Amino acid sequence: MPRPRNDNFLRALKKQPVTRLPIWLMRQAGRYLPEYCETRKRAGDFLALCKSADLACEVTLQPLARYDLDAAILFSDILTVPDAMGLGLYFEAGEGPRFERPLREEQAINALYVPDPYDRLAYVLDATLTIRKALDNAVPLIGFSGSPYTLACYMVEGGGSKDFRHVKTMLYARPDLLHRILDVTSKAVIAYLNAQIENGAQVVMLFDTWGGSLANAAYQEFSLAYMRQIVAGLHREQAGEPIPVILFTKGGALWLERIAESGCDAVGLDWTVDLGEARRRVGGQVALQGNLDPCVLFAPPETIVREANQVLASYGAAGNDMTGLIFNLGHGISQFTPPEHVRALVHAVHNYPTGTPCQGQ
Ligand code: CP3
Repeated sequence: MPRPRNDNFLRALKKQPVTRLPIWLMRQAGRYLPEYCETRKRAGDFLALCKSADLACEVTLQPLARYDLDAAILFSDILTVPDAMGLGLYFEAGEGPRFERPLREEQAINALYVPDPYDRLAYVLDATLTIRKALDNAVPLIGFSGSPYTLACYMVEGGGSKDFRHVKTMLYARPDLLHRILDVTSKAVIAYLNAQIENGAQVVMLFDTWGGSLANAAYQEFSLAYMRQIVAGLHREQAGEPIPVILFTKGGALWLERIAESGCDAVGLDWTVDLGEARRRVGGQVALQGNLDPCVLFAPPETIVREANQVLASYGAAGNDMTGLIFNLGHGISQFTPPEHVRALVHAVHNYPTGTPCQGQ
């Protein structure tokens, strides 16, 4: 497979000079796009959309057709892994994801097993292969998984939660049970991400959406330790090309140095952090991805441009060295975002000077 024609995203991950700053958006294919809603309607529901390689490919490409984005992300969901582990995923209209069989009993936890991704998650691998082919090396394809702790939150709670009462009760009262869930889930995630890499994912990202809800010591023991195991278990090269890994713990800035030491190539940051300060703290050890507040996109375009420039300037003043930055939102794009506002953001990022002459393009 040749390298992508626009490889600024891969170059930024390696902290190499770029021709323009790369930008992609978490949840870039989603309900804020009318064409996404149309395809989802045609699929029947969200899970049917994930399970059709052709329709998942169609929605993956929609934001790239509209905007000049620098990466594609596989269209799927983090909860496909617990579903493959037998928990029975379904979506209640307007209520988000739910599991038919949440993990609360010792017996069910002891019976957990690592699913073969080529069997139980073959539909995700089909979609990965189809998308990679359809991209025709225009931009790189990102594969992803939830972090073990974030997946465990949904598996134990049985869905979303405001206080994480059940999973945190288990963490403090029966840490052995939570460790068992995290251990099996980590092995499942390693097999799953390696299969995505074998089927065309060129970068992989771990979404640790709920790690930031943990106490300091608990984060190290129940979230970061397992993400570190995953980083160590991944294929870091495929077809002669390195496979970079991005770790994103929402609310994880407190632990930035520790995350940067995990062996990953880049750290995703939410909007609570100053990028310049984060850059100094990691000292060039990793690239950084982030971190505009997604709510900025509700404001008029001139405000979006001003806020984006402020985030960019915090990483490096115009004309300074901007290597190692991938622009993104600090969390997923909201379904209430006016689509035209995204265009203003992409232009602002691409117009910001990179500060270094780019060779080899
Ligand atoms: O980034 C992308 O474009 C790729 C697709 C993607 C989705 N979910 C599609 C999706 C990715 C990377 C995810 C990750 C995901 N899923 C996370 C981690 C990132 C984050 O946002 O914190 C989590 C926690 C989930 C679990 C999940 N899936 C929830 C809580 C929901 C409901 C949210 C809502 O807004 O209703 C989903 C459903 C989901 N996953 C949608 C999309 C586009 C909306 C479903 C729909 O079309 O109705």
